[in-house]
Amino acid sequence: MEGVNSSSSISDLDDLARLLDRPRLNIERKRSFDERSFSEMGIFDNVNSPGGWETPVSSARNSFEPHPMVAEAWDALRRSLVYFRGQPVGTIAAYDHASEEVLNYDQVFVRDFVPSALAFLMNGEPDIVKNFLLKTIQIQGREKRIDRFKLGEGAMPASFKVIHDPIKKTDTIIADFGESAIGRVAPVDSGFWWIILLRAYTKSTGDTSLAETPECQKGMRLILSLCLSEGFDTFPTLLCADGCSMVDRRMGVYGYPIEIQALFFMALRSAMSMLKHDAEGKEFMERIVKRLHALSFHMRSYFWLDFQQLNDIYRYKTEEYSHTAVNKFNVIPDSIPEWVFDFMPLRGGYFIGNVSPARMDFRWFALGNCVAILASLATPEQSAAIMDLIEERWEELVGEMPVKICHPAIESHEWRIVTGCDPKNTLWSYHNGGSWPVLLWLLTAACIKTGRPQIARRAIDLAEARLLKDGWPEYYDGKSGRFIGKQARKFQTWSIAGYLVAKMLLEDPSHLGMISLEEDKQTKPVIKRSYSWT
Ligand code: GLC
Repeated sequence: MEGVNSSSSISDLDDLARLLDRPRLNIERKRSFDERSFSEMGIFDNVNSPGGWETPVSSARNSFEPHPMVAEAWDALRRSLVYFRGQPVGTIAAYDHASEEVLNYDQVFVRDFVPSALAFLMNGEPDIVKNFLLKTIQIQGREKRIDRFKLGEGAMPASFKVIHDPIKKTDTIIADFGESAIGRVAPVDSGFWWIILLRAYTKSTGDTSLAETPECQKGMRLILSLCLSEGFDTFPTLLCADGCSMVDRRMGVYGYPIEIQALFFMALRSAMSMLKHDAEGKEFMERIVKRLHALSFHMRSYFWLDFQQLNDIYRYKTEEYSHTAVNKFNVIPDSIPEWVFDFMPLRGGYFIGNVSPARMDFRWFALGNCVAILASLATPEQSAAIMDLIEERWEELVGEMPVKICHPAIESHEWRIVTGCDPKNTLWSYHNGGSWPVLLWLLTAACIKTGRPQIARRAIDLAEARLLKDGWPEYYDGKSGRFIGKQARKFQTWSIAGYLVAKMLLEDPSHLGMISLEEDKQTKPVIKRSYSWT
């Protein structure tokens, strides 16, 4: 359809939408990208202009060519809608009739709904997102217990289910805060995603009234109270149990996992832009500013790994005492795994999985690194280095299906000790080095932010070769992600929505504004670790 003028393509689309019996895709926002980088096209400055609620329009050539998979994906996404008293309030995790075990995949997961929400926002359908935000904030207000222990007031559910009673004609919601989840872990990420989504809604619609409601203000404050509370911590990072986020089974991510730290940072910054400047709001803003300052310093200094840092750690002295210590956490160089020396390219770097006393988890995690780019937790140099690493280690991190949840997988004795012999998380499967199509949207957003759309294009091409044909699997297995996952659901909603969001972001990079935060000059003290320690 290249060269067709925009008015005729709009009416073609209207007809197509009518035929497909669903609202027209919001094509005013859909623009193609030609393989130049977005920063080159001057879009960046617009997207990231501070303060403005408007989503600016890109200047790219207008040639909207929907891939046949896009229409299929929208149909599948709409089939996954969940209604409460006639209103759509979310999407179920998987609409897989073939699967014998439903488990909890018939529920609306907070984290899974995020890509669905972004797809609806990008398509000019914000109501479902508003309904979801309001419904979950109501659920947050409930009392939650695990056995006899009462959970913090601010905790957000991992998921909820709507029960329809056709006889009484009533709808009721049952929520899970971890009290039914495998392993009984509370989802630390849910509250953060909720705040991030509230900002995305506000940014995308320009409607500040939702975020300003007493309910949303209180909801944010409760989440913040939980994660900003003082305890015995010596670090500004958030201490977590294993399995408290997307990786929701025991995988050795306890401690200070990168996924949570990056989401924590992004949620704090998002809340800053939405808290009211009243007495309560101001008190939280002060606490947030202090925490952001310490958190960004800690992450940028101690979680960052590149060739130089690796070499520094390799040469660490141990058992150092007092403030002059270089090896502050007493990491023993012998604990550095062999693989990381081969994996680390000369060009590139990443935030490692975890840092705590005498323990560095050198694994690379996709979600945490992409969110770090989007939230500007990574400095521009670090963001560029993360993308360099993805390019340099494409076979390992993307392979045949984007994107590996983490790299590398753990095996044998280590797998037994770390996972507790988990048969779902075997070598290169599921959370243990499996490939998750949902992560495509995060990779695409990170690519656009760093001005590397061609990387996203390459990843989307890989997904387009398989996803629809394979029935939108939840995850793929194998070293290069070639096999549909052992226990993967089909028609997994976030695989579908993740693809749509990736496509829409690439077609109209101005959507990035709703999910990206520009660098905050106040949190800028980027000192290379080796210097900061002297
Ligand atoms: C699995 C995933 C989790 C996801 C849920 C629903 O438990 O590990 O991240 O939210 O399925 O899709």
